[in-house]
Amino acid sequence: MTRSPARSPAADRPELNSLASPATIAQLRRSLLDWYSRQGRDLPWRRTRDPYAIWVSEIMLQQTQVKTAAPYFQRWLVRFPDVQTLAIADRQDVLKQWQGLGYYARARNLHRAAQLVVNQHGGEFPRDFEATIALPGIGRSTAGGILSHAFDLPVAILDGNVKRVLARWTALDVPPNKALKPLWALSEAILDPGSPRDFNQALMDLGATCCTPKNPACLLCPWQDTCQSHSLGIAAERPMRETKAPLPHKHVSVAVIWNETGDRLLVDRRPAEGLFGGMWEFPGGKIEAGETPQDCVKREVQEELAIEVEVGKQLTTVDRTYTHFKVTLEVFYCRHVSGEPQTIACDEIRWVTLAELAELPFPAANVEIIEAIAAERGETISIAPQGGDAANASSGG
Ligand code: ADE
Repeated sequence: MTRSPARSPAADRPELNSLASPATIAQLRRSLLDWYSRQGRDLPWRRTRDPYAIWVSEIMLQQTQVKTAAPYFQRWLVRFPDVQTLAIADRQDVLKQWQGLGYYARARNLHRAAQLVVNQHGGEFPRDFEATIALPGIGRSTAGGILSHAFDLPVAILDGNVKRVLARWTALDVPPNKALKPLWALSEAILDPGSPRDFNQALMDLGATCCTPKNPACLLCPWQDTCQSHSLGIAAERPMRETKAPLPHKHVSVAVIWNETGDRLLVDRRPAEGLFGGMWEFPGGKIEAGETPQDCVKREVQEELAIEVEVGKQLTTVDRTYTHFKVTLEVFYCRHVSGEPQTIACDEIRWVTLAELAELPFPAANVEIIEAIAAERGETISIAPQGGDAANASSGG
């Protein structure tokens, strides 16, 4: 393998566009569209031109892989077939349908944006870039993804896959997020105005199936001839990675509180905005220095719900990795001793049966707790299929 040069061509030219002459651009377009006609993926959202369905797909695909998103997409359209149905839906139903996909702010924003499309755009998704990015949850790349896919408009994209493809093709010698301006300019320059829909979809597929993060299939790549990283023998070393600080690790105690008669459990609904906003959970909180997990459970339910509990045996331990932190949940059975639960740190409290739990939206870590409760009791419980939140390294917010 050729050694990495001190500086790659891209670094010497802040405008990456200079790598793409008109003749090169014409060749990139032709070869990519030809490759796509043979190798493009048959994905559920590519079988529709409905802007609403395409918008839903783009939001799901923001932080979720295609194979996880596809069944959610199909179920979503059964439950909320059009923007009007979504706009009038209950937020709890919306979050329930999103359960397991993580990054729940996406669902909250999609719901709010549906209401705006109905109230401000007569129920028609806008065809205009400015109006599109004004909607909650839609940034520049998502707007390009929707407008090019739904209306065949020439609007560029720059999602994670496309950043990788362009950073490799130019042998960019800084991490892509440090060169967003020139990468956007390049994505705009190469976009085929004659086939923006297919071109953008093809670019995404190239990143997802050929120009992959590890072991890129350069020999099968339609852009191999002009790829700077390939010609320098540094495809495996591009894109450059950002140096990241290790994730903080939170240790949390969680209470599974039975009522006095032992047939209902206490759950609370988190405040509407913020991390896991509007979703249900078992109460708990961070273990303080010098505190035992059991003492923490007792203190947290006292502080947050104003009740006293007797802490029993440990049910399970759940580990999760999110975007900005790792968490270990130490989960304890508890028995309610005294006090009427108060909504001090949450929006709602309910005592529910195990069967009723399945109807409420919970983050994936809490679903794991529900499954552990059911397994211990020898009961089966059917909770909506899970993407798993953490599989997407989601922060759930
Ligand atoms: N990621 C974002 N949008 C996508 C699409 N339309 N197809 C495949 N992956 C995507």
